[in-house]
Parts: sequence; structure tokens; C-alpha cells
Amino acid sequence: MSNHYSLMIHGGAGALQHIQAEGSEEDFAQSMYGILEQGRLKLQQGAPALDVVEHCVSLLEDDPLYNAGRGSVLNEYGEVEMDAAIMDGQDLAAGSVAGIKNIKNPISLARLVLKKSEHVMLIGHGAMEFAELWGVECLPDDYFIIESRIKQFQEAEKAGKMMLDHEDIEQEPQRKFGTVGATAFDLEGNLAAATSTGGIVNKRWGRVGDSPIIGAGVFADNDTCAVSATGYGEQFMRTVLAKMISDCIHFQSLAAPQAAQAGIEYLVAKVKGLGGVIVIDAKGRCGAGHSTSGMIYGWIEHGGESHFQLT
Ligand code: GLY
Repeated sequence: MSNHYSLMIHGGAGALQHIQAEGSEEDFAQSMYGILEQGRLKLQQGAPALDVVEHCVSLLEDDPLYNAGRGSVLNEYGEVEMDAAIMDGQDLAAGSVAGIKNIKNPISLARLVLKKSEHVMLIGHGAMEFAELWGVECLPDDYFIIESRIKQFQEAEKAGKMMLDHEDIEQEPQRKFGTVGATAFDLEGNLAAATSTGGIVNKRWGRVGDSPIIGAGVFADNDTCAVSATGYGEQFMRTVLAKMISDCIHFQSLAAPQAAQAGIEYLVAKVKGLGGVIVIDAKGRCGAGHSTSGMIYGWIEHGGESHFQLT
């Protein structure tokens, strides 16, 4: 039994002088603070890390400031299509959903996959059938599609669908890669991680990013760490980045801040990757790293004060 809990949340990476499209710095600060403090309350009361990461990510999904749940970016048809995953560090149990529509909280559907199915990942129509079976809350399109995302989608279309072009994304590092996530270390010393996203603006052909891929956008193992990633998903998938960070701790006994930094250095060295990670290690230490010029995240380490980075 540990004496302290730790919690980290993130709301996307990129050059955050462009966040005015979604909200002011003050809006993000208020949102981050409120969610961290709700998570703290649960951890103080002895809630398991898995419950806390699900709860924090569902709050991020409900807030239209972020690219997940309500406020997700639009795909090539002008629709919202979401991905999410959750992982329990106690036994490496995991649940994930990809290409789902109209589900109010994709992270809770991922949790149901973990709990109620013998599978790890469900996609598209099948995932929607599973959601119906368990009476998961669905909402109409207009709940998800917000004004600023329509504008962003129209700009991407006008620019010739360049947001899917790898070269162009690399040449435009000012772009913001929204995705939300949480990692937690509870009073029992258990770790958990969760990640949720609307993906990339104007995405095509049923594209799925790293967020629902165990080991790429999310990973948790009580012996090493809990990781949630945000960034250009294809690069995190090719480097299996969340598991790579866990391996740094397993093989090199790094602490969370050094492991996060090692992961980002690897991402950049191997694929010139753009994005960021939050990491809590098995001693409850918090670390983060990003290769973009900014990242929105907050943390509570060992039950201390809440802190943020919004630039
Ligand atoms: N990191 C989110 C995505 O690429 O879909």
C-alpha cells in the first residue's frame, strides 16, 4: 500500500498559440484544474486507478475544448468517428474501440470491452452492436459537431486534404494534435492509463490512429508505468511508443521524467515524430515530454498541489 496517489491528464499537443479556435488559455486552465481535482477526490477516497482514468477521460470527452467525444474533429464526410482505449496495470487487461460514432463516452465503451467481452479491440459496426447490447449512451450527430470543427474541416478541405499528407504534416509543426488522456497511480499502488480521440481532421478510408492501439497510444503495467500519448498517430504506431517507454523503465530502471524524455527522443530520431506523452511510474513519479512546441497537460504528484502546462 502506497501513501500517496498521483494523477496526470493531457488535452493535446502542438503549437498552442493556435488554441484560440477552441478556447482561451483561461478556458483550458479552468477545465484542466476542475478535472484534476475531481480525479484527486476519487483517488483520496480510495478509488482504483482504472476508475479514475476512465472518469477523467470521460470529463475531457464531455468538454468541447478537446478533440475527443464532444468536439471531436471531422472526417472526410464531415462526420465524427472516434477511437479510445483503457488499460489496467494490475493484470494488463485492456479494452479498446475504433471508428465508432454517436457514443457519448468512447472511453466507457472501451472499459466495457475490457470488462464484459473476451476481446481487447472492437471496431465500427461491431463495436456499435456491442454498445447497444450494454445500453451505452448514444447521442445525435449535432451533440458532437461543433462550429469550430466545421470551420477547421472546411479549411482542411480547401487546403486539398493536406492534413492526411505525412510530408505536409511534418512541414507544418504548428498544427495542434488533439487527443485526451489520463494516467493514475492509486493508494494501492496500481497504475492505469486511458486515451481517447477524434483523430485527425479530414481523415479518410476508416483511418485509425495510435490512441486505441495498446502499446502505441496507451499502456499500463504496475511493474513499470502508465503512459498516454497525443500526436501524429501513425508515428506513434510505427514506434510502438507507449510500450517503448515502459521498456525503458523495465530494462534501464529509468524514472518517469527520464523515460518520457527517452521516448520522445526515440520518436524524433526514428520517424521525426510530432507529439507528446504523460507517464507515471511504479513509484508514482510523474513525467512528460513532447516534440511539438507545446502540450496541454496537468499533474498531481504524490498527493501534492495540481500543476499545469498550457503552452
Ligand atoms: N493521436 C491521435 C491520432 O493520431 O489519431
